Parts: sequence; structure tokens; C-alpha cells
Amino acid sequence: MRLGILASHGGSNMQAIIDATKSGVLPAQVVVVIGNNAGSMAATRARNEGIPFHHLSGRTHPQFEDLDEQICRVLVDSRVDVVVLAGYMKKVGPRTIDRFSRRMINIHPALLPRYGGVGMYGIRVHQAVIDAGDDVTGVTVHLVDAEYDRGPIIAQCRVRVLGSDDVESLAARVLTAEHDFYVETLCRIVSGELDLDTLR
Ligand code: GRF
Repeated sequence: MRLGILASHGGSNMQAIIDATKSGVLPAQVVVVIGNNAGSMAATRARNEGIPFHHLSGRTHPQFEDLDEQICRVLVDSRVDVVVLAGYMKKVGPRTIDRFSRRMINIHPALLPRYGGVGMYGIRVHQAVIDAGDDVTGVTVHLVDAEYDRGPIIAQCRVRVLGSDDVESLAARVLTAEHDFYVETLCRIVSGELDLDTLR
């Protein structure tokens, strides 16, 4: 399976996926990385791994439609089977979503449908979990469609919230869980155990 990754910042999930392909745990190949931020850690990681990195953003393509078209073109030209969003902080355009319908996945650091949607990202998610007094949070991998964080859920795992947690410690524990869980979920997709076509 040929994977194309979209990542904006740290790229730690992306790195976990790349490492799993290199160790043979994940029988797939990351063939291209696209990011909206040329100076990001994700861009550096891609370059360090010798994976083609494309900086595509509002800077390179001021018209959103052109940007969408170019992102789609790079993914198609790279013969990507599944698009993996890994901390991609921008909206994916309708052309790309349509072309990769049921072939684009995202990871979210909470148990969707709770704590998702516009404005629910990064530390805000974990702060909301702590404010609500929840003792369990988690990770969701879902299909990407036109609405933020609303595509069909592929898989979820739970993460304990400890009484001693602050937003940083909770964010760190969830992020660590994400790394294993994204790889594990991709393995189940590659093996066919999870069928993206039949998810509802
Ligand atoms: C993760 O928490 C992911 O769930 C969210 O953005 C963060 C990305 O982290 N969508 P990284 O860039 O993979 O380190």
C-alpha cells in the first residue's frame, strides 16, 4: 500500500508510521509528504527519510481551488492508495476529498464524536476533557469527509485521565498512544481486516 501523508507541524505520528514501514511492522510505503509549512519538523523528518516533501499552502497557491488541485495532483501522480492526515491543520479541499473518498484517514486526540469539530485541536481538546472531569479520553482514527472530524469512525482506543493530569501530561500520554494506535490501525487496513469501503 502506498501512503501519502499530510502533516503541518511536529510530524511525530508521521515518524511512527515511517518507522513502522522501515521495520516491516507495517507493510506499506510512505511515498510522499505534503505540508503547508516548509520549515516544520514534519518537513525535516520527511527530508531526513529521503521521502519527497511538497510545500503546498496558501503561499504557494493563494487560490484555495488551485491549492486543492495541486495537492490532489501530487497525490495522484505519486500513485497514493491511502492519504494519511497526521496533524494536518488545514482544510482538505473538495477535489482531493472526492478523489480519495474512503481513502483518506485522520487521527484525532479524543473519543469522537466528543471533543471534535471546528476549533477543537491540540491543547484545547485535552483542556476540554479535563474541564469536563472525564476519567477516560482516547484516540480516534476516522475517514475524512467534507465535515471536520465527522467522517465514519474506523477505530478508537481509550486512554486513562489521571487525577494528577494537567493538560501537558494528558496531551503527552495521548500522543504516545496515537503513535502505536495509528500504526496498528493502518496494519489492520492493509491486511484487509478493516474495510474502508464498508464503514458506516
Ligand atoms: C496529534 O495529536 C493528532 O491527533 C492531531 O495533531 C497532532 C499531531 O501531532 N491531529 P504530530 O504532528 O503527529 O506530532
